[in-house]
Amino acid sequence: MSQILVILTGSIACYKACEVVSQLVQRGHRVRTVATKSALQFVGATTLEALTGEKVASELFAEGEALDHIGLERWADLVVVCPATAHLLNRMAAGLADDLAGALLLAHDWKKPLLIAPAMNPMMWSHPATMAAVEKLCGWGARLVAPGNGRTACGEAGEGRLAEPKVIVDAIEAILVQPLRRLRLLITSGGTAEPIDGVRVLTNTSTGATGAALAAHFAQRGHGVALVRARSAQPAPAACREALFTTFAELDAQLGQLLGGENFDAVIHAAAVGDFAIDAVEVGGVVRAPGEGKLDSDIAPTLRLRKNPKLLDALRTRSRNPAVKVVAFKLTRGADSERVRAAVRSLLRGGAADYVVHNDLAARADSGPFPADIWDAAGSIVERCPDRDAIGPALEKLLMLPADEPKE
Ligand SMILES: Cc1cc2nc3c(=O)[nH]c(=O)nc-3n(C[C@H](O)[C@H](O)[C@H](O)COP(=O)(O)O)c2cc1C
Repeated sequence: MSQILVILTGSIACYKACEVVSQLVQRGHRVRTVATKSALQFVGATTLEALTGEKVASELFAEGEALDHIGLERWADLVVVCPATAHLLNRMAAGLADDLAGALLLAHDWKKPLLIAPAMNPMMWSHPATMAAVEKLCGWGARLVAPGNGRTACGEAGEGRLAEPKVIVDAIEAILVQPLRRLRLLITSGGTAEPIDGVRVLTNTSTGATGAALAAHFAQRGHGVALVRARSAQPAPAACREALFTTFAELDAQLGQLLGGENFDAVIHAAAVGDFAIDAVEVGGVVRAPGEGKLDSDIAPTLRLRKNPKLLDALRTRSRNPAVKVVAFKLTRGADSERVRAAVRSLLRGGAADYVVHNDLAARADSGPFPADIWDAAGSIVERCPDRDAIGPALEKLLMLPADEPKE
């Protein structure tokens, strides 16, 4: 049994939130509720009291309850904002505390899970202010039960209606069985592309599917994920922060900024980084800078390449958290076991990586499973993953830090 604080805000979907509260109580949880003034326009305090057996808190300045904004927050194992209005999301992202809901959300202890289940008109949901607020909140560690698509109470269709009560209750129960330690992860994904001229690029075949699957797994498990992905690669699920790159130089700059600016517990470096950058393009004896104009299709250019440095080698030294764990990826094609071992060891050399995920392109049938092995720093296989989706859970197990205080 867990102690769950449900904050209701002023949406017509408050009636569905009552069903969420009811189901949580029926599943044996202790539930207390906070309702904003607007929420009480949609649902009576008596209903919430009858469902929970607890008084509903609404006033910041109620007599005898002056410290409820701290007390209720500290009491809860999990805080759920359901339904979350556009107004609440925006003021929460701005850190405003002008009522009880705002004050206790500003006092939220981010070591504890916080779930938001938005409900609003589709235009309100897609408004840049709301999108930015949600991204910010997720970046701080809030979990999102994304709103559903369909007809909203205001008569417009689109994304914005509160997720079904069962979906929200399931998300709550999933959080409650999750490890309470939250990893902060930086995942790179997709391939770099170097411009030859203004329309052509030198790139690789990476789709970013593995990086996206990893980001989805860790975000869904409640970990904080910053996905640094190629513009052409699969996007992140809604609960991840994203930074985009095209070229090696852009990826390099994004890594420098993120690793130097924040504490990450682990970097999962799944991006397919080009080994070479284009120094110059030679056409008919004339040397041009790469990325300019459009080359004549009749004359084959000569590309002068230079070797890019290995980004993997510098991840640890660039990282603000010196104890960061590094996961590298190695793709081979039809290599025998000795060559695979040598390729994996080359990444582990000098302590650049703690783990290497190795897969062999030849082991993959057309669109069938893509098996991978995870090697540890000692050069032994510690996990065998039958497919891409198994890599996330296996890495999560390996990356979970011992139960000491998170580094700040
Ligand atoms: C009938 C009606 C339905 C509303 N439904 C929603 C809604 O679903 N989502 C939302 O963001 N705002 C909705 N609003 C507007 C909010 O109630 C309003 O922005 C309010 O200030 C929210 O306050 P709160 O976030 O402090 O609860 C609705 C307003 C009315 C009158």
